Amino acid sequence: MSQFRTLDSADVAGKRVLLRVDLNVPMENGRVSDVTRIERVLPTIREIADKGGKVVLLAHFGRPKGGPDEANSLRPVAAAVADLLKRPVGFAADCIGPVASAAIAGMKNGDVLLLENTRFHKAEEKNDPAFVEELAKLGDLYVNDAFSAAHRAHASTEGVAHKLPAFAGRAMQAELDALTLALGDPERPLAAIVGGAKVSSKLDLLGNLVKKVDLLIIGGGMANTFLFAQGKSVGTSLCEKDLADTARAILATAAQAKCRILLPVDAHAAKEFKARAAARFVDVDHIAEDEMILDIGPKSIVAVEEALAGCKTLVWNGPFGAFETPPFEAGTMQIAKTAAFLTSEGKLKSVAGGGDTVSALNSAGVAEKFTYVSTAGGAFLEWMEGKVLPGVEALRA
Ligand code: 3PG
Ligand code: MG
Repeated sequence: MSQFRTLDSADVAGKRVLLRVDLNVPMENGRVSDVTRIERVLPTIREIADKGGKVVLLAHFGRPKGGPDEANSLRPVAAAVADLLKRPVGFAADCIGPVASAAIAGMKNGDVLLLENTRFHKAEEKNDPAFVEELAKLGDLYVNDAFSAAHRAHASTEGVAHKLPAFAGRAMQAELDALTLALGDPERPLAAIVGGAKVSSKLDLLGNLVKKVDLLIIGGGMANTFLFAQGKSVGTSLCEKDLADTARAILATAAQAKCRILLPVDAHAAKEFKARAAARFVDVDHIAEDEMILDIGPKSIVAVEEALAGCKTLVWNGPFGAFETPPFEAGTMQIAKTAAFLTSEGKLKSVAGGGDTVSALNSAGVAEKFTYVSTAGGAFLEWMEGKVLPGVEALRA
């Protein structure tokens, strides 16, 4: 963490602090349905406010087409932040210009103000220098607490960090610490679980991981492509047959790098994909032509559990099966519980991230037991892929 400037070295008293947060939260019927991202940034907001800074929150919401639109307004989110913070949170209907500057001019030390969706200006996503200047004018300091948006080189996540003294907020700091623990200088053996539907969406990830980890556990639909590449019949399972060569190349790279690959040995398979479909446990050598793999089976679960018991660090992205469709959540749930148990016993450091993974860990009721659960989706994946995150780089001391 020492390479990044943190709030420890920021003198915020009496200053206008532009605090970039990720308030891209799920909404249902006009209300925030999952407040995790808001909760994560509360300590930073409180710390700056309590030290006498004026907290000016910058955030994007959804993917508006570069102009104001009611559906993507942050106004209802300001109310949710205020509720959780248990303090008033002001709102300005524009993130630059006279509306924003007037609202900021009216702030007292310790006040909190949220500016409207930065993506209501096209220039935000273009990281346009004139827009960066407009934002920078509004603050004396910049603090970034939005790791989950740090894969975007946008004005509010990257550009403005070069125009003002820039610092990592507490949530950003925790995220960077956890990621360093997992892939920076991990205790070995180091395992990764990669699941999810498609190999094609995670090629860079698999390519990077086989060079870094000691054990790569592959689950989800993408495992089918590997099984197919090994000559097995996968019936009607989700499978990217045109990627068989790619899958074999990944296995070859892994062998060279002495990375052990763990693929499912049995499956929970059904003839149709629906909740409570009639299903059977079957070895992966005997999948029928008319059935599909929807989860890993009990032998595979045991194999993963035994492998994890021999590891010191785990990084996890992607579920093992169709975890939103019972009973095909069982593999993911069981392994989540085992990883949580090993963590609570002090035997494993476990870091997980990605929308599906976090929602699976929440359903298993074990998210709190993991060493760290990232709220990031795309940013977590890009970091696991070994890519540079522009929003993080801009904070380097
Ligand atoms: C996210 O929700 O993953 C982040 O807020 C980034 O949003 P984006 O994918 O629309 O850039
Ligand atoms: Mg996203």
